[in-house]
Amino acid sequence: MKKLVILISGRGSNMEAIVRACSNEAWPAQVAAVIANRPDAAGLAFAASHGIATAVVDHRQFPDRERFDAALAELIDSFSPDLVILAGFMRVLTPGFVDHYAGRMLNVHPSLLPSFPGLKTHQQALDAGVRLHGASVHFVTSQLDHGPIVAQAAVPVQAGDTPAMLAERVLATEHIIYPRAVRWFVEGRLALDGLRVTLTPPEPQWLFAGHTAGEGA
Ligand code: GAR
Repeated sequence: MKKLVILISGRGSNMEAIVRACSNEAWPAQVAAVIANRPDAAGLAFAASHGIATAVVDHRQFPDRERFDAALAELIDSFSPDLVILAGFMRVLTPGFVDHYAGRMLNVHPSLLPSFPGLKTHQQALDAGVRLHGASVHFVTSQLDHGPIVAQAAVPVQAGDTPAMLAERVLATEHIIYPRAVRWFVEGRLALDGLRVTLTPPEPQWLFAGHTAGEGA
């Protein structure tokens, strides 16, 4: 039974998708804890109502990133997780923290990496005029929003799209590819070779959430 610890900062809809998939698909895994860096993170209530241990490490209580990350790592490690899952966890992590969880920490980012790291990814995509946008699940390295890609989902950019419309379309794909990627990890099917991730036995590590005829630009 693999142990999972999920870190959130807010809504937690990706965390919810993972918790539901873990239970509905009877993964050989258990979500041991959901930890937030903000006491008002809405996702904490969902986790608690599903009998999952919850905790808050409020970054505002720490004088610097090093001490916040040290306290967070101590709490995470008290659950002995096999995998740490960043699910809308909006903190830049120190290299020491990232190294500690090398090969056992995943993140979801709302863009087709390596395009558009950082914030406001949907606005970045609209400004760049790309016709495809999407989401990426990747192993975390010390380079922000960078690392071996486990799965990606692409969505079309349509005429008249706003950042909010794109965000909604992309988020729906995150809820598919993130639980899928976590399940592959739990099943021991992922191998890392530099920036490449191999899935054994293979299956598509991508999703195209296309639109129906007549829609789009
Ligand atoms: C998601 O869109 C996720 O990709 C993004 O925050 C949102 C969290 O939503 N993460 C990042 O931008 C990380 N760089 P959620 O709290 O409902 O899962």
